[in-house]
Amino acid sequence: MDKLYASTNAVGVVTELLLSVLNTNLHVYQVSPALTVIEKHTAKQFASLFGFTGPRAGGVTCQGGSASNLTSIVIARNTLFPLSKIHGNSHTECGASGPLILLTSAHGHYSVEKAAVTCGFGSSSVWTVPVDEDGRMSPSALRETVLKAKGEGKHPFYVNATAGTTVMGSYDPFNEIADICEEFGMWMHIDGSWGGPAIFSEKHKHKMAGSHRARSLTVNPHKMLNVPVTCSFLLTDDVKVFHRANTLPAGYLFHGPTADEVNDEEKADQIHALEGETTPPNGCGNGNSPEQEVWDLADLTLQCGRRGDALKLALSWIYYGAAGFERQIDGAFEMAAYLANLISQRSDNFVLVSSNPPPCLQVCFYYAPGGKLADEPEENTRRTRIMVEKLIARGFMVDYAPGDRGSFFRVVVNCQTLRGTVEGLRMGANLGSAG
Ligand SMILES: Cc1ncc(COP(=O)(O)O)c(C=O)c1O
Repeated sequence: MDKLYASTNAVGVVTELLLSVLNTNLHVYQVSPALTVIEKHTAKQFASLFGFTGPRAGGVTCQGGSASNLTSIVIARNTLFPLSKIHGNSHTECGASGPLILLTSAHGHYSVEKAAVTCGFGSSSVWTVPVDEDGRMSPSALRETVLKAKGEGKHPFYVNATAGTTVMGSYDPFNEIADICEEFGMWMHIDGSWGGPAIFSEKHKHKMAGSHRARSLTVNPHKMLNVPVTCSFLLTDDVKVFHRANTLPAGYLFHGPTADEVNDEEKADQIHALEGETTPPNGCGNGNSPEQEVWDLADLTLQCGRRGDALKLALSWIYYGAAGFERQIDGAFEMAAYLANLISQRSDNFVLVSSNPPPCLQVCFYYAPGGKLADEPEENTRRTRIMVEKLIARGFMVDYAPGDRGSFFRVVVNCQTLRGTVEGLRMGANLGSAG
């Protein structure tokens, strides 16, 4: 109940063992044909859930959500300013109208700033957009921030919207954000590392409305879907864009479109057998012409050697089915709502920070004896910390996060959290406060 992931499951453990035994490297098709086909197919299916249904929709796995977000920034920059691939970030040389600016909500994950530092933009290039009272990026504030940046001669080019923010679990309004991105020619990325799997649920997928308008989207099965770490996908409507942005000539690794027709047909047969289709793709090879599919997946990414993480999602998806994922996710959302209810019933001792029901699986609240918070934020922080320490000693892994009135509890339920556990936590919190 502490961080944003669950435990593992039997399918995941077996797949980890299998991947370790195989020790396959997914840089080029030549050495990993089966797992390459599985990754391409799984990414395509996953992408279609988010509304990426174009002929070249799909994606790749990266080493985690932070790595997927970093990759999306590199792809955005290299696509919008192709000269940056040669000349770097200098706006006078890459064709931007001013220094490049990235936008993310005040509640966005720190990986965007880390990526900006890594890419050489510097952390000052990341401008945060205020959120509304529910922790969602405010579209009007986004517009104002863009205009402010442009007024200062900067070039805002990338907007990171979040599906399931790290603390509050909020889902940004993607359609409104997409309108603004289109108006100003900015790249829209969705960081759905945590909340993206809501797409499997009929009840909750409305929170992802507008996802199809993003140009890239991160989603981590290793968080909400119980797939063992690491398993993160970067998805898109057009993997060709990923390829153009990241490809580099390394003749010792990527051998270009030399595969003979027999090999091409063989690859096409494999992927179409998986997709249940009969028509072959428009040519195969290493993607060096517009029609060619890319089979050497490292050439779409920032990596060379790559692990076959997609297999973990593929086998879990086959084993549980989309309906199984949906049941797990719905159960977890219900458990979060149940905990929020338990907390709100004890308004003599707690103040709920999350809305009820919460937007995702985090339940945030303050301990407030007599129903009142302390006047000083430091006192609220002190109380929270002491109680968290006591609860951990009693076997409840819970966490806290900073807020306007001091640190509050952030308790995360997951697909495996039992009713008795959340009831025990409330009991434990009462005892902890008394002790
Ligand atoms: C919204 C969000 N994005 C990105 C990440 C980073 O994901 P990872 O830990 O897989 O790098 C997290 C981690 O919790 C997150 O909450």
